[in-house]
Amino acid sequence: MPSVTIEPAKTTDYLQIAALDRCAWPVIPDVFIPDGEHIWRVWSDTATLLVARLAEGASPLRESKDIAGALVQFPTKQGELFLHKVMVHPDCRGIGIGTQLMKAALAQANSAVLLTVDPNNKPAVHLYEQLGFTVREHIRGFYRPHEDRFVMMYSK
Ligand SMILES: CC(C)(COP(=O)(O)OP(=O)(O)OC[C@H]1O[C@@H](n2cnc3c(N)ncnc32)[C@H](O)[C@@H]1OP(=O)(O)O)[C@@H](O)C(=O)NCCC(=O)NCCS
Repeated sequence: MPSVTIEPAKTTDYLQIAALDRCAWPVIPDVFIPDGEHIWRVWSDTATLLVARLAEGASPLRESKDIAGALVQFPTKQGELFLHKVMVHPDCRGIGIGTQLMKAALAQANSAVLLTVDPNNKPAVHLYEQLGFTVREHIRGFYRPHEDRFVMMYSK
């Protein structure tokens, strides 16, 4: 397993995170809209932005990229946290990086954490459940008519 360090994202990481966002998700036209580099900059004011950084020389990724995964978690106006996104590069999955990112985010949480997830996204639902998230609601047509979501919640 390549060695990774979970750490706060740096400003210089946002282009690479945005590139990861474009390749981490299944390409389904009209369903997924990746977040651009500028929005990661905006979020950095208030959100927890974590990256899983591969040790030097350990990158299985092309083009000398060193970020294997990323996570963003926001505070909400209701005083909870909202886990907007966790993603791991397709070449680095199934070796615990998603779990490490989530554990680091939850360790910083001092309130309930909410998220939404596609009920068909089995790896993600499994990851969240094994960390203690439970499904609070199944909302049909959450974003658009064809996009259902589980609302999941974690509290310490
Ligand atoms: C969901 C995601 C972040 C998981 O990252 P990961 O680094 O592969 O996860 P881990 O290696 O830590 O595995 C976590 C658990 O999920 C399981 N898992 C991983 N891939 C799986 C798959 N394809 N199907 C079923 N379970 C899977 C692992 O076995 C592990 O469970 P275990 O400890 O009981 O064995 C990754 O698949 C991903 O980036 N997906 C695309 C983006 C996404 O859907 N993000 C979540 C919605 S915001």
